[in-house]
Amino acid sequence: MSHPKTAALIVAAGRGHRAGDGLPKQYRDLDGEPVLSRTLRAFHQHPRIDMIRVVIHPDDQELFDQANQEFAASCCYGGDTRSQSVHNGLRALRSEKPDHVLVHDAARPFVPDDLIDRLCQALDQGEAAVPGLPITDAVFSRGGDQIAAGIDRDTLVRVQTPQAFHFEKLMSAFDASKAGIAYPDEASLARSGGIPVQIVDGDAANIKLTFAEDFQMPVFHRQMITVSGTGYDVHRLGPGDGIWLCGVKIPCPFDLIGHSDADVGLHALVDALLGAIGAGDIGQHFPPSDPQWKGAASSAFVDHAVSLARKAGSVPVHADITLVCEKPKIGPHRDAMKARVADLLGLCQTSVNIKATTTEGLGFAGRGEGIAAHAIVTVKRHE
Ligand code: CTP
Ligand code: MG
Repeated sequence: MSHPKTAALIVAAGRGHRAGDGLPKQYRDLDGEPVLSRTLRAFHQHPRIDMIRVVIHPDDQELFDQANQEFAASCCYGGDTRSQSVHNGLRALRSEKPDHVLVHDAARPFVPDDLIDRLCQALDQGEAAVPGLPITDAVFSRGGDQIAAGIDRDTLVRVQTPQAFHFEKLMSAFDASKAGIAYPDEASLARSGGIPVQIVDGDAANIKLTFAEDFQMPVFHRQMITVSGTGYDVHRLGPGDGIWLCGVKIPCPFDLIGHSDADVGLHALVDALLGAIGAGDIGQHFPPSDPQWKGAASSAFVDHAVSLARKAGSVPVHADITLVCEKPKIGPHRDAMKARVADLLGLCQTSVNIKATTTEGLGFAGRGEGIAAHAIVTVKRHE
């Protein structure tokens, strides 16, 4: 069933003064990536969200581009207040004609999928909805450092983001609002514009990173560990005019036989990387029975394994490949192979090693019937 065209508007133009020194809070490291990347992923992967617009501070363009690499979301610049940032974002979204918009703080990276579901569902009935949570502490108004009147907390609700609206309703409320008035959030603006705002169940995990202490949570300080995987592959040699080995074409009077380009070095490398991230083996990801891999460049297999690794939060840090063959001679091509493998894995060349050995004439490699390759890849990831 088709759903209303829904935009996520992520406001990330604040300076994070309360979070203390360092990068603006939305760009600080959370589990190996910027906070904003985690926020973006929550919306990017959600089936109800059709587009994402991020409102950023002009000083943060580079930080944003880095955090946005995987998502390719569009951005626009914000203003001095959150209200201005949201208003700018809505104006930028207008040409896309979304039916619904979910306005969300970049500083809430733990927004759960089912909360987004609840808000989208609420917009099927009403014009606006926000996540609300009960207050569990006692609540009083204060007079200086003294407690004044007690307040019945059952009449109160803590409101989070995303705050969800029919797009044109929120746009009109902003356009009609007096310039210069800063609303703490869109629910307040909607209320003052007479739009009824429904409360759906919020989520205690959906916290807004605000103070320096919020960055002391264990998830910000998980230890990095290193893990290794091994790979092994063999391909048969036949007559031809050259072979692909470790991503480099070597002119010689034979060919390696296989469904893809039969680059035995890269196949061992892919298996080693898949091993390090616990993702099975190359045959599961690129079955030889699948015609789309016929003649494929094995570099595409490495690219895929690297993107799987990134999604799993793992970063390759080292690779070592051993080629077992009598022919061709590997020495003259070693540097080119190192450079190519380093490039594919996003490593510097000092973190890649290529070795070669013969088998003293013994076995299939010794008789020149085929080439074997061993690889070991090391990745770093959080505990
Ligand atoms: N925000 C924004 N434009 C502003 C102010 C805030 O886009 N002019 C965004 C922030 O980036 C944040 C969200 O609104 O994602 C919630 O605001 P808040 O938690 O107050 O963040 P900051 O304003 O950055 O923090 P502080 O108030 O401590 O400076
Ligand atoms: Mg603020």
